[in-house]
Amino acid sequence: MVLASANPKKVAELREILGARIDLIPRPPEVPDVVEDADTFVGNARLKASALLVATGLASMADDSGLEVDALGGAPGVLSARYAGTGATDEDNVHKLLEALADWPNPADRRARFRCLIVLQRPDGSEVIADGTADGFIAPAPRGPGGFGYDPVFVPDQGDGRTFGEMTQAEKHAISHRGQALASFVAQLPSP
Ligand code: IMP
Repeated sequence: MVLASANPKKVAELREILGARIDLIPRPPEVPDVVEDADTFVGNARLKASALLVATGLASMADDSGLEVDALGGAPGVLSARYAGTGATDEDNVHKLLEALADWPNPADRRARFRCLIVLQRPDGSEVIADGTADGFIAPAPRGPGGFGYDPVFVPDQGDGRTFGEMTQAEKHAISHRGQALASFVAQLPSP
């Protein structure tokens, strides 16, 4: 299985979760980045998986994820990585989000969810789709040094009041959208 990511940390993490029964290889350097211009997470994951399948002829796995905030009509959504503009840093994006929610100080009005979609496309045309969601709310200010992206301002319902940024990686993955999507993905693969 080829992964639509050249990020060694992502590959190592997935190898650990998927175990020895799957030979997971990172995206070969000659396969270029795909323009992620679909308007859904599953659409973007499909774009990445199918481009990789065409380039390699191998079963291809891709994921797409992001944050949806109810008060903002689901934004930043598929634009999560570039919410504050092309080349925006995580800090820029978090700052823009907190500004956008400034008129809604009440946690009940700051409901949000992280979503992760994983798509596997095989050379025989078959497809596996796995979806994971983590519900929660946006904190008034960033807390915690861990994680990435919007982790310091996301308080998951399934936690103890800490943001994802205040949790260890293991604590986060046990309840995160990505952890849940991966569990669903693995459960849909044929047993060894
Ligand atoms: P991608 O699916 O890796 O491209 O992630 C899209 C963007 O969504 C990231 O750049 C983050 O801004 C945000 N995001 C996705 N998953 C997480 C997460 O687990 N924590 C914090 N931010 C996330």
